[in-house]
Amino acid sequence: MGREIIRTKNFAADAVNFIVDLARKSLAERNEFRIALSGGNTPRPVYTELARTGRDLPWERILITFGDERCVPPDDEQSNYRMARETLVVPAHLPDRSIMRMRGEIEPQIAAQEYQDHLDLLATQRGEHVYRHDLILLGLGEDGHTASLFSGTAGLEETARRVIANFVPQFNSWRLTFTLPLINHARQICFLVNATKQEKLIDGVLKGDPKYPASRVNPSAGDVTWILGQPS
Ligand code: 6PG
Repeated sequence: MGREIIRTKNFAADAVNFIVDLARKSLAERNEFRIALSGGNTPRPVYTELARTGRDLPWERILITFGDERCVPPDDEQSNYRMARETLVVPAHLPDRSIMRMRGEIEPQIAAQEYQDHLDLLATQRGEHVYRHDLILLGLGEDGHTASLFSGTAGLEETARRVIANFVPQFNSWRLTFTLPLINHARQICFLVNATKQEKLIDGVLKGDPKYPASRVNPSAGDVTWILGQPS
């Protein structure tokens, strides 16, 4: 696993450049680009900028998945899909067939199974055993969680399934999330961490402190890039 750390005062612009460069490389090599979006608030300016500057990408050959989702309807203000729709999907006029939404509005176990089944079908169509993302964007929570893999939750210990429903006691709610087997199968991981996150947390994850779930992101045949926003 290669690791690159980019510290930048131009967080959104550098993140978009990274994404677009990888998209063009993937499209040239495999005629498609498979990207998983992260949720929360950090990606908002990145997706907004991507919609503005990535408009000429062949979005019909780009497949967008979601690394995790809250178990809420797609129009709920907590929905990661809603955030992506507002900042990227609508402004960039992305085709519906490019978006694979996690159905947070239905029973969590069913939603997770149907999403995993869809990814498995796409993998099989490509001669793969497990769907391999070209890029998975990940955020970093204040407690070191990533996607919806929180310390002490069953989802963090999942070793077989690729997508699960994970009960998060910290929020007393269910989440849909990629598991480490799926995350660590990606060609490229990119952590997007803005300047609001503590250096102590970031250093702890970079040093591999096991108390942080994000420390367990180690793609077996992929690379990890950290784009760290710096105070302007
Ligand atoms: C989510 C995210 C989660 C997020 C971190 C950071 O659904 O909340 O996927 O993993 O990336 O919690 O969130 P912020 O970007 O809002 O700080």
